[in-house]
Amino acid sequence: MEAARAIIETDQRHLIHPLHHPKDHEQPILFVEGRNEMLIDADGKQYIDGLSSLWNVNAGHGRKELADAAAAQMAKLAFTSAYAGASNIPSTRLAEKIVKLAYPTSSAIYFTTAGAESNESAFKIARYVWKLKGKPGKVKVISRIHGYHGVTMAAMSATGMASYHKMFGPLMPNFLQVPAPYAYRWAGNEDPGIGAADAVEQAILKEGPDTVCAVIAEPVMGAGGVIVPPPTYFPRLREICDRHDVLLIADEVITGFGRTGRWFALGHWGVEPDIVSFAKGVTSAYLPLGGVIISRKVHDTMRGAPADQKFMHAATYSGHPACCAVGLRNVELIESEKLVERSALMGRRLLTGLEGLRDLPNVGDVRGLGMMCGIELVEKKETRAPAIGLGPRVAKEALSRGLIFRLRGGAADPAIGDTICIAPPLSTPTETLDRIPDIIRASIVAATK
Ligand SMILES: Cc1ncc(COP(=O)(O)O)c(C=O)c1O
Repeated sequence: MEAARAIIETDQRHLIHPLHHPKDHEQPILFVEGRNEMLIDADGKQYIDGLSSLWNVNAGHGRKELADAAAAQMAKLAFTSAYAGASNIPSTRLAEKIVKLAYPTSSAIYFTTAGAESNESAFKIARYVWKLKGKPGKVKVISRIHGYHGVTMAAMSATGMASYHKMFGPLMPNFLQVPAPYAYRWAGNEDPGIGAADAVEQAILKEGPDTVCAVIAEPVMGAGGVIVPPPTYFPRLREICDRHDVLLIADEVITGFGRTGRWFALGHWGVEPDIVSFAKGVTSAYLPLGGVIISRKVHDTMRGAPADQKFMHAATYSGHPACCAVGLRNVELIESEKLVERSALMGRRLLTGLEGLRDLPNVGDVRGLGMMCGIELVEKKETRAPAIGLGPRVAKEALSRGLIFRLRGGAADPAIGDTICIAPPLSTPTETLDRIPDIIRASIVAATK
């Protein structure tokens, strides 16, 4: 289409994209429409949105209810300050709703507009709380290798992927990383859940518990390749955090709002965090919104702050009325359409289908929880040697067959295999879900010919 070519040329002249390199943007797809699990480009070609775009369009594309909620709130009161001393109805209602849906000990919410900003806020809340408790030296944050927490300065410093650091270092001081509970590539003989949790404890002891404020962990690592922890990991990590007075931050930017088959994911292992970061699925991406949920204990500490130690953290758009109105309507939709339950049920069906790919010589591992799955490609199953370069070839074949997904690993992280990440909208129809394993099989076969 002529008009589309002109737009792309203008884009190439004037737009800087996330993860930008001109080589990767020579033939971008110009998307013009979305319908539930499908995306449509300017030429009318349809694609299955196999990653819910960026793990975030949980309720699917083209939801008029969400557009209507935004329009109604924008027409009435699009924005006004929510700084202390002022409030608005949508942010209050949404905070109440999320607190009810999250963990039994969840108590209050600070709203942000993105995942990285949620994590920045979570780190600052952790430091703030320890200062209020008379332990100002507790400032260090422990995270995990392969973890992804966003790419603002502190979030990038917690992110455990070297490719995100290479051109932006040095990292912020007081951020350190330990091995992840990555069962498929765990080198030790012990249970990887126990071994990886103990690695956190060793780091706390080495640094000194009086210097560590928090551990941050995604319940299921997303961008790192859908790494599902062994069931032993989070209960042990919780114990370790309690033993050393360290706050546990669950980064639920992907796993929140139904992605794993629960509203929030640590309940899979009977664990409650002190702080939760969320974003993405809270609005199914219709408007930018994120936030931090704090537990009753953290909330009580904050409520008891003396006047000269107030929470001097802020953002213009915290509690944005229009974004929160969309969030509220989206959460109501997820509830009324039982998308969390659907995610659990259909996620199992999707994973079973993908498990069928294990007979292919280059499929090393298949894993998942709810509607997030990973297929790790290897050179040889026996050695688990990473299949460098295979992932992008498979992605290209899949694209030509009408399936979009994201890859983890590859040249940017050669120690680990390319992993195909699949996380379609929770509302994806069964017929489409059943096509995904077939398309991936055909794409791997074609790419390895
Ligand atoms: C687990 C996790 N945390 C944080 C982020 C950063 O979110 P944002 O890109 O909205 O800043 C992401 C983004 O993919 C994520 O997956």
